[in-house]
Amino acid sequence: MRFFHSLLFCVCSLLLSSPVHAWTFIDRAGNQIELNWIEQQDLSQEEQVFIDAFLEAYKDFSIEQLGISDKYTFLKSAFQDVVEDYEKGEINLLSAKWDGKVIGFVGFKDTEQNNEVYIAQLAVDPRYWQQGLGKELVFSIFDIKQETERLVVIPRRINEVARQFYAHLGFTVSEYMHPGYNPQKYIGYEWNKAH
Ligand SMILES: CC(C)(COP(=O)(O)OP(=O)(O)OC[C@H]1O[C@@H](n2cnc3c(N)ncnc32)[C@H](O)[C@@H]1OP(=O)(O)O)[C@@H](O)C(=O)NCCC(=O)NCCS
Repeated sequence: MRFFHSLLFCVCSLLLSSPVHAWTFIDRAGNQIELNWIEQQDLSQEEQVFIDAFLEAYKDFSIEQLGISDKYTFLKSAFQDVVEDYEKGEINLLSAKWDGKVIGFVGFKDTEQNNEVYIAQLAVDPRYWQQGLGKELVFSIFDIKQETERLVVIPRRINEVARQFYAHLGFTVSEYMHPGYNPQKYIGYEWNKAH
């Protein structure tokens, strides 16, 4: 009996001290969007959002400009990296659903610096762009990982959509470069809580 009381106490303490796992966000169009960062297992809907979002962002760029052989294959393979990281428990994913369907997500993980979080992936279904969801996904990281002081991200230099988005959010160009990425293709941005 004492064991069960202790177990109950532990579970309650854990629940009370944990950050929120699911909540609702109302975008500028008035859509009620469900955000959830713990439950997704099958990432096929996130994959579709990822592909659609980047195809739109890169629509004016040729494969030569992007330095790839095919946009769709490249994006499929890039998303596979997200899946592998997620399955290894190396990234957190926060998904946004409207009417039961995924319309956006952000993937993020700690860096080697204290209280610094790297935004590994971010995508919103183009039909829902400019409604505030991208911003909500990014700044929700502070609710999920409350000790976070600094966000870092490395959009492709060619990705004007992402660069303008981060600039609008108050990110500034940064020296940050994620390990293994080419600074000629990617550019660092950061957002500091203290600024
Ligand atoms: C980047 C992305 C996630 C933004 O999503 P979103 O839901 O449209 O963003 P929001 O509506 O929250 O926009 C937040 C702010 O950025 C601005 N913004 C968003 N996209 C912009 C663009 N293409 N050009 C200029 N400003 C833009 C918005 O106007 C808004 O500013 P405001 O708050 O002053 O009105 C979305 O465009 C996307 O999925 N792009 C393709 C994938 C990608 O590039 N991901 C980032 C990889 S690092």
